[in-house]
Amino acid sequence: MKACGIFDTHWGDSGKGKITDFLLSGPWMGQIAFVARWNGGNNAGHTVVQNGKKIILRMLPSSILNPDVDSLISPMCVVNVQNLLDREIPEADKAGINLERLRIARETFTVMPWHLDLEKAEKEALGSADLGSTMNGIGPAYADITARHGITIEDLLDQNRLYARLKSVLAVKNLVPAVQAKGYTPEKMTETLFRYGQMLRPYVVKLDSFMQKSLQGPLGNELLAFFEQAQGTMLDIQSPNYPWNTSSGTTIHDLNKIFGLRLGNWGMRIGVCKAYTTSVGRRDFPTKTDGDIATYLQNHGGEFGSVTGRPRDCGWLDGVALRRAVKLNWLTHLFVTKLDILDDLPEIRICTTYKCDGNFLKTPPRSGLDRVQPNYQALPGWRSQTRGATSWGQLPAQAREFLRRIQELAGIPIIGVSTGPDTKETIWLG
Ligand code: IMP
Repeated sequence: MKACGIFDTHWGDSGKGKITDFLLSGPWMGQIAFVARWNGGNNAGHTVVQNGKKIILRMLPSSILNPDVDSLISPMCVVNVQNLLDREIPEADKAGINLERLRIARETFTVMPWHLDLEKAEKEALGSADLGSTMNGIGPAYADITARHGITIEDLLDQNRLYARLKSVLAVKNLVPAVQAKGYTPEKMTETLFRYGQMLRPYVVKLDSFMQKSLQGPLGNELLAFFEQAQGTMLDIQSPNYPWNTSSGTTIHDLNKIFGLRLGNWGMRIGVCKAYTTSVGRRDFPTKTDGDIATYLQNHGGEFGSVTGRPRDCGWLDGVALRRAVKLNWLTHLFVTKLDILDDLPEIRICTTYKCDGNFLKTPPRSGLDRVQPNYQALPGWRSQTRGATSWGQLPAQAREFLRRIQELAGIPIIGVSTGPDTKETIWLG
C-alpha cells in the first residue's frame, strides 16, 4: 500500500476540504482506495464548494462527496455520535450526499455528554483565562482517552459490555459536581447509547480488516490510501502555542502510529499552506496583525470560523512555521491556497525568520512563541486578478515571484495553487 496525505502547515483553515475534493476528482481520480480522517472531532470544519454549492463538513471526511471512495473515520478521532447521527448525517442526506461509503472504525473513541458538561464548567471556572476552545467537548474527550476512561464505538455495539464500561467510567465522572448534577446513570445511558450504536452499525468496520479489504484485488498494490488531517500542524498538542492548542496530535507521526506506517509506505505528502496566515481561538501568533491589513484579509478571505462563526485573526504568511510543518510532516510538496485573496494589495509580506532574545530563528522555538518578533521580506503586489486562474502562465509575474519565494522558504516544490473556492479554480503543476 502507498499512503498519500494532506497536512495544514499552520493553524488550520487553509482549505483542506477543497484540496481533498480537487485531488479526488482530478489528478488522483481512480487511484484512491479510501480516504481516512484520522484526528480531531466535530471541532473541525471543512468547507467544500461544488458546482456553486457550499457544504460544511465537521466529522465526515471531505471525501464523502465522492462516491468512488470509502470515507473512513479512524481511531484517534473523537466522535460525538449524537451530533453525527441526529445532525450531520441527516443534513448531508438532505444535501443529496450519498453516505453508502461512509465507514467508522470500531476502535474510534467518542465524545460523551459529560465531556461537554466538563468543558462548559471549565470555561466558567476559568473566566477570562478560558482556553478558547470550540466547546465541542474535544479536550475532555482526549483527556479521558489518556486517563483510560474513553468509550469506543465498539463499546456501543454490545449492551452488556456498554453497561459495564459505563458503570466504571461514570463512577469516576460523577465525582465532578457539574457531571453529577446531570444525573447520568449506567442504566439510562446504556439505553440511549446502545440505540445510537445500532444506528451506527451499518457503517462500522474493524480498522485492520477494512484496510486489507480495501487494498485487495488486481489493483490493490497500486491503490493509494489518502490521509486527511483535521486542524493544523501548529495546533498539535505539542506545538509551541501550548496551552492554546487543540488536544490531539496533528502530525504525520500520530497517524503513522495508528495505521502502522513507516516512511517507505509513503508517497506524496502535501502541505496545504494559505497565502497568508490565520488562527482562530485564544492565541497570538507571530505574524498576527491589526488594522487595515487584518481587516482586508478577514473580509476578502471570509475569515470567519466555519464551525463557530468566530472571526479569525489574520496576518502575513509565516514562513518560519511553514518550515516546521515541512520538517515535522516529512512534506514533499506544497499546495498554496487563497492566492486570489491577495489580488488587491500593493505590497505583500512574508515572514522569513523570527527574532528571539537577540537571535535569528529559522524554525520556531519549542515554547515561548509569544516572545518572538517576525522579520519580513516585502514583495510587490500584482494588483490584478488571479481569481479563477487554472494555469501558471495566467498568473502575473509578481504572483509567480511570491510563489517562488514560498517554495524557497519551504525547500519543497509547489504542486498546486488554489485561486478560488470552487474545485475548478485551481492550478495543478503535477
Ligand atoms: P478545541 O480543539 O475545540 O479544544 O479548541 C482548541 C483550539 O484549537 C481553539 O483555539 C480552536 O479554535 C482551535 N481549533 C480546533 N479545531 C480547529 C480547526 O479545525 N481549525 C482551526 N482551529 C481549530
